[in-house]
Amino acid sequence: MTYKRTLVTSALPYANGPVHIGHLAGVYVPADIYVRYLRLRGQEVLFVCGSDEHGVPVTIRARKEGITTQQVVDRYHELIKRSFADFGISFDIYSRTTSQIHHQFAADYFRRLYDNGKFVEQTTEQFYDPETGEFLTDRNIRGECPHCHSLGAYGDQCEKCGSALSPDELINPYNAINGNKLEKKATSHWYLPLDQYQTWLEQWILEEHKEWRPNVYGQCKSWLDSGLKPRAVTRDLDWGIPVPVEGAEGKVLYVWFDAPIGYISNTKELCDAQPEKYGKWETWWKDKETRLIHFIGKDNIVFHCIVFPSMLKADGSYILPDNVPSNEFLNLEGDKISTSRNWAVWLNEYLDDFPGKQDVLRYVLTANAPETKDNDFTWSDFQARNNNELVAIYGNFVNRALVLTRKYFGGKVPECHALTEYDQQTIANFRDVKERLEGLLDTFHFRDAQKEVMNLARIGNKYLADTEPWSTAKTDMERTSTILGIALQIVANLSIAFEPFLPFSSKRLREMLRVTDLRWEQLGKLDLLPAGHELGEVSLLFEKIEDAAVQGQLDRLARIKAENERLQKEEDMKNWQPVPVKDATSIDDFDKMDIRVATVLDCQPVKKSERLLAFRLDDGMGGRTILSGIAQSYPDPSVLIGKQVLYIANFPPRKMMGQTSEGMILSAVNADGKLVVTTVSKEVRNGAQVG
Ligand code: MF3
Ligand code: ZN
Repeated sequence: MTYKRTLVTSALPYANGPVHIGHLAGVYVPADIYVRYLRLRGQEVLFVCGSDEHGVPVTIRARKEGITTQQVVDRYHELIKRSFADFGISFDIYSRTTSQIHHQFAADYFRRLYDNGKFVEQTTEQFYDPETGEFLTDRNIRGECPHCHSLGAYGDQCEKCGSALSPDELINPYNAINGNKLEKKATSHWYLPLDQYQTWLEQWILEEHKEWRPNVYGQCKSWLDSGLKPRAVTRDLDWGIPVPVEGAEGKVLYVWFDAPIGYISNTKELCDAQPEKYGKWETWWKDKETRLIHFIGKDNIVFHCIVFPSMLKADGSYILPDNVPSNEFLNLEGDKISTSRNWAVWLNEYLDDFPGKQDVLRYVLTANAPETKDNDFTWSDFQARNNNELVAIYGNFVNRALVLTRKYFGGKVPECHALTEYDQQTIANFRDVKERLEGLLDTFHFRDAQKEVMNLARIGNKYLADTEPWSTAKTDMERTSTILGIALQIVANLSIAFEPFLPFSSKRLREMLRVTDLRWEQLGKLDLLPAGHELGEVSLLFEKIEDAAVQGQLDRLARIKAENERLQKEEDMKNWQPVPVKDATSIDDFDKMDIRVATVLDCQPVKKSERLLAFRLDDGMGGRTILSGIAQSYPDPSVLIGKQVLYIANFPPRKMMGQTSEGMILSAVNADGKLVVTTVSKEVRNGAQVG
């Protein structure tokens, strides 16, 4: 299939917070590289994005900040839009799903499917807060986790043990916002019967798109293998696009129904505004000669490969995505990036700390792109890649070539004379650069493609180091002229090859070369700059990043980590409830336990054990040793020395870690899970019995 044009979309970010490096690495930088590459090749391409402003995440943020949902989306839409522009993400349009055009378009889309009988209506029992009269979404329901029994698990997931949950599994579910007890109440919704698309999806994805990335293909296969079920496309909520059906008051379109339609409505907004430039929106969405590519993160795969295509198929007049390049996740210094825990490098803050260094971040994120597996961003790697690659290889090579040309040839491109065998070998590396890069970029291998380009810079850098034009200049200007002539052609090639990856540096480099119209087609040629062409001002493309700057970032993260631990503790305390009282017992059972008082003479961690403390006790009966698994709660066990404690005296002796334990120290479990040793309120004689 040959295509006339390409429509590229990148996932609409939720307008519930600023964008961070994870977003950039996973979705927006790869999409931008691809689009810039196609544009450079002179292809017809449209790059569409916008803010996803509906759904529960924005409403949660509003509640947290004590402002209206509209204020939240207004604030973050602007912030996100600016960050993308700052990093050179070259959208043709960045709009938003609260726009009038989108509301109308999405409602019409729903209504069309509704009128054509594409939905099924179903009534189910959902959790309901009788006091506020609201149905609750999964995320707003909390309760006890059925697996690890931690309190405060969410209706979709337990963040303590990581299990996926449904609200029905929670023990004692309550409203996360006000703590109210919940009831079940019947409500009706419209479902897209995905089961009816199963056979078609199996054929379309599993047979016809075997070329999709293994992570994408694999996830689709596993969804299809477990059998698709109808999915609700409406919700009981007051934030969103009202369901355009009589009697559906209080219901809105599910955010995952309206958001992908945003790709279409944003295209329409752009085309309607500038038809002479962009043509008709239908050409981009309905013409078989348009190739549609969705760039997304891995948590979006099912929506873009299964749900949205089924919505498009249900309508019947739309094209389907040709590919859905999805990345895995980027971690930050070993931990999962999290907006709510502020564990992220925010783009706006990055630019405050590293002004003008957009390309450095783009470079590092592509070099570490989580294309096939999750990857880690570390500040030390950021520094190393900047200093050892951008500065020491690319920047150094360009600077030497330009400065030496200025010095020996007055800033004019010198002529190439006779070529040595080494010259020929060097040039040979460029012969198939264009094909190699196209092979990688066409198949979304951005990381390898960028590596390939840096390798060209490496070849150039080595060429100058080996030929030493500063030495030949003492004896042989003709030779010097050839060397610098070749080096400058390589520099010009780099300005093209790096353009999709490092657009800001390429632009500056073109200014230094005083060229404006280098095209992808010229890549690999060594006649890009005519002899005699006058070069512009020379400046450094990249500068070293010092240790102090990196340390500043690490310190910031350490502060955030400490703060998160404090908040987590607070949260644990807040959610704590006493465990239920045990089944009834009797005084006889209690009498069997011999509980006594003893003074702690010594208390030491047991060697090679993370849990155990060894207590040496004066029990009033000659002394004894008891081992207790409370080391995690007492980092400094010496605080217990001299305290009188309660213990069970008549347990049979037990061997643990090579020592014998004669009894059990009684401790209380605090709300934060820490153990606290029990004691008496007034001094008593050691050996006294408790009862
Ligand atoms: N807002 C979603 C997220 O951040 C992505 C929406 S993509 C679209 O995960 F297809 F719905 F637009
Ligand atoms: Zn759990």
